[in-house]
Amino acid sequence: MYSETLKQSIKAVEAAREKNIAYEPARMTAKEKEDLLAAYHPDYKQDQFETLKIGPNKGEKVPCELAEMLEAHSRITSDAVDLSTPDYDVDVLIIGGGGAGASAAIEADEAGAKTMIVTKLRIGDANTMMAEGGIQAADKPNDSPAIHFLDAFGGGHFAAKRELLHKLVNDAPEAILWLNELGVEFDKAPDGTMITTHGGGTSRKRMHAAKDYSGAEIMRTLRDEVLNRKIPVVDFTAAIELILDDKGNAAGAVLMNMETKELLVARAKTVIIATGGAGRMHYQGFPTSNHYGATADGLVLGYRAGAKLLYADTLQYHPTGAAYPEQIFGALVTEKVRSLGAKLINADGEVFMHPLETRDVSAASIIRECTTRGKGVETGMGLGVWLDTPMIEKIGGEGTIERRIPAMMRMFGKYGIDIRKEPIIVYPTLHYQNGGLDIDDTCMSTGEENLFVAGEAVGGIHGRNRLMGNSLLDIIVFGRSAGKNAAAKSREVSLGALTLSHIDAFDKERTAAGIETDAVSPKLLPRYTHGNAKLK
Ligand code: FUM
Repeated sequence: MYSETLKQSIKAVEAAREKNIAYEPARMTAKEKEDLLAAYHPDYKQDQFETLKIGPNKGEKVPCELAEMLEAHSRITSDAVDLSTPDYDVDVLIIGGGGAGASAAIEADEAGAKTMIVTKLRIGDANTMMAEGGIQAADKPNDSPAIHFLDAFGGGHFAAKRELLHKLVNDAPEAILWLNELGVEFDKAPDGTMITTHGGGTSRKRMHAAKDYSGAEIMRTLRDEVLNRKIPVVDFTAAIELILDDKGNAAGAVLMNMETKELLVARAKTVIIATGGAGRMHYQGFPTSNHYGATADGLVLGYRAGAKLLYADTLQYHPTGAAYPEQIFGALVTEKVRSLGAKLINADGEVFMHPLETRDVSAASIIRECTTRGKGVETGMGLGVWLDTPMIEKIGGEGTIERRIPAMMRMFGKYGIDIRKEPIIVYPTLHYQNGGLDIDDTCMSTGEENLFVAGEAVGGIHGRNRLMGNSLLDIIVFGRSAGKNAAAKSREVSLGALTLSHIDAFDKERTAAGIETDAVSPKLLPRYTHGNAKLK
C-alpha cells in the first residue's frame, strides 16, 4: 500500500538492514538529552503555554488549551439543580469507567461501601483499553522494587513525588498477582512463569504483557468483575460539576445525561476522580493515541472546586504514533515493537538513536531528525521516520510478530502493509498527561477533603516523564488504593448541606482577574469539524 516514492525510500532501509541490526547505537549522555529536549520537545515550546490567572495554581504555566478549560465557565449556574433531593445517594462516587475507576469500584465494594460508577461513555471506553505494551512489576529474581524506583525516578527527571513512586513500585508485584487471580491472561512460558521484556528506560526486563493488547485484556477482566459484583454503572452520563458540602468538602457531583442533557444529583460521602487523560485536547495540534473521551475533565472539575494541580505543564508524546496511512494517523505503535528489536531509521537508512531511550528523549530525537536534520520521510501528510519492523523476525525468528504483537500486524495489515516484510512510518503522538491533580499517599487531593483521585488524572507519580508500563500499573495500584481509602473515609464522614457556591466564587475570581471568555468546561468530547484549524 506504499506509494512509489515511499517504496524507493524503503529500499534504503532494506539495504542497510543487516548492518543496522548489528549496530548498537550509544546511549545519549545526560547533557545531550537535556539539550535535545530543550530544543525539540513540545513541553519546552514556551509560546504554547499560558500562565493561569485564577484558581489554586494561579501563576503557573499550563498548555494554552488546558488554561482555557481551567478558567472557563461552568456548564451550570449554582442554582441549576435542587440539591436537597438527590437522585443518587452513595458512600463512594467514582467518576470514570476506565481501569482506575473499575479497580477503585472493586475495592470500595469489597470494603462494603455503597459504590457507584458514573461514566460519560461506557465502562471500558478509556485509555486503559488502548494500552498495548504491558505493565511493569519487579517480580523477577534479578530485579527489585528499589531498582524499579531508580529507573522510574531517573526517567521522570527526578521529579516524581517519592512517596507515590515508592507506593507504585512496592505494590506492583501484588498488583500483578491480583490481576492474574482475577483472570488476566498474561503471556507465560510453558512452565507458567510470566514472560517479561524491556521498555524504554528500564534496566531489567519487567514488562508483563498480554501480547500487544495488554490494556484491553486488563480492562476486559476488570469490567467483568465490576459487572459480576453488580456495582451500579451509570453510563452515557457525565459529571459536569463537583458538589461540596457546607464545610467545603467534596460531597458528590452534578451529572448530565449525554443524550437528553437532563441534570441529576449524586450525593456521596467521598468522590473519586478517575477520568483519565487529555489526548483529545490535541495540545499543539498533535494527533493522539487516546480514546475519544480523553478531554482532561477531572482536572477541570477538581480545579474549580479547589483541588491543586501538579506538573500540568508536562505531557507525554509517544515517540511512535502511526504517521501513515491516514486512517490510523496518531494511533499507538507500541514501544514493544522496539523492545522486540525494531530500530528507528531515517530517510537515509541510518539508525539515529538507541531504540530504547526514554520516551521524551526518543520523541525529541525523531522531531530533530524530521526538522533541522532534514532526514524525515515525507508521507504526503507530513513527516515521519521508519520503524524497521522486519528486524523483529530476523532477530526473534519467523512468527515472532504474529505471536508477540498481533494487534500491530492487524492494524497495518488492514491497509495492505505487512509489518513482517515492510517497515512502518512513525512520528510522535500525544499519549499521556504526566501532570494532573496533586494527591497524598492515600490518594486524597491535597486541596480538597474527601476528594480522591486515581489513574491518569493524578499528577506527580511519574515526575515529568513516564516509563512504558507504569501507567497500567498506576491505574491498578492507585485505583485500588483510592477505592479502599475512600470507602474507609466514607465511614467517618457526616455530610453537611450540599452547595455549588464554589461556582459563584470562581466566577467572581475570573471577573476580578479581567478574564473574558465564552468557553465552558469540562469539554467532555472533542469537536472535529472543518472549523477546527488545528486538525486540518
Ligand atoms: O508503547 C506502549 O505500549 C505504551 C505503553 C504505555 O504507555 O505504558
